[in-house]
Amino acid sequence: MTVKVFAPAKINLSLHVSRQREDGYHLLDSLVAFVDLGDQVTASLAVRSELSVTGPFAEGVPTDGSNLVLKAAELAGLPMSLTLDKHLPPASGIGGGSADAAATLRAAARLGASPVTAERALALGADVPVCLRSKPMRMRGIGDVLEPVTMPALHMVLVNPKVEVSTPEVFKRLERKNNLEMPDLLPRWPDTLAFVDWLSTQRNDLEKPAVKLVPEVAAALAALALTPGALMVRMSGSGATCFGLFADRYAADVAALQLAEGNPWWWVKSASTLPG
Ligand code: C5P
Repeated sequence: MTVKVFAPAKINLSLHVSRQREDGYHLLDSLVAFVDLGDQVTASLAVRSELSVTGPFAEGVPTDGSNLVLKAAELAGLPMSLTLDKHLPPASGIGGGSADAAATLRAAARLGASPVTAERALALGADVPVCLRSKPMRMRGIGDVLEPVTMPALHMVLVNPKVEVSTPEVFKRLERKNNLEMPDLLPRWPDTLAFVDWLSTQRNDLEKPAVKLVPEVAAALAALALTPGALMVRMSGSGATCFGLFADRYAADVAALQLAEGNPWWWVKSASTLPG
C-alpha cells in the first residue's frame, strides 16, 4: 500500500515574541493558517527507511538521517520508503521541513503506526505540532499550546526572494523579547475586511531582525505593498517569505503574475487558506 499526504505551507499571519525561556527558546503568540500550496510525502512500508527527494526545490535537500522526514519516520517507529516532492523553498519561514515531518507522521499512522502525540512531535521542531493539525490555530508556548480559531478564507500572494534564513540567527538579532501578546480574538468575524483590519494592528516581531540579516525581505515587503489591491503585507515565521493579502483569489492571481513579471528571480505564488 502507498499513501500520499499533502504537507501544506504554514503562514504565520502574526507572530508576537513575549519572552525568552532559560533554555533559550522563545515564548510566542502566533496566529497560524495553512494554504493550498505545499510539499507531498509518498510513503509505503519498507524493511529500512529511505528517502528520495523530487520536485522544483529538491536540489540540496539532504536525503540522510538529518532530514526531518527520516527523523519523523524514526519517531513513528515504522520503517518506510519515502518520497518527498519538494515545492516549498527550504528555510523560508513557511514551515516546509515541519510540514514534511508532520505529513510523514500522518503517513505512518495511515500505514499502521500508533499515532505520535503532539507532545512527542514537538521534539522534531516547534512548528511540527501545529503542522500536524493543519488548521487555523492560535499557537502559544514555544509552539506546543494550540487553540483552534475561526477566521474567514484568506487569499494571498507569497513572495520569497530566494535567500535562505537561519531561524536561530533571526531570534539572536531580536532586540526586545518581552513584547505584548495578541489580544483575545473574536469568536466570529463579520467579514474578511474586518479580520484583515484587526490583523493589520498585530505584528511579526521577527520582521525587523530578519530585515537586518536579509535586506531582501524589505524589498519583498515593499514590492507586495506597492502591488494594486494589497490589503496588508507581512513576513511569515522567521522569513524570508512574505505575504500580501488580497480581497479574493482572482485579485491574488493577478497580483502574483504582476510580481513574478517584475521580479523573475523571486519565488512568487498565489494561495488560499485551507478551512478550519
Ligand atoms: O524548533 P525548531 O527547530 O523549528 O527551531 C529552530 C530554532 O529556532 C531553535 O533552535 C531556536 O533557536 C529558535 N526557536 C526559538 N523559539 C521558538 C522556536 C524556535 O528560539 N519558539
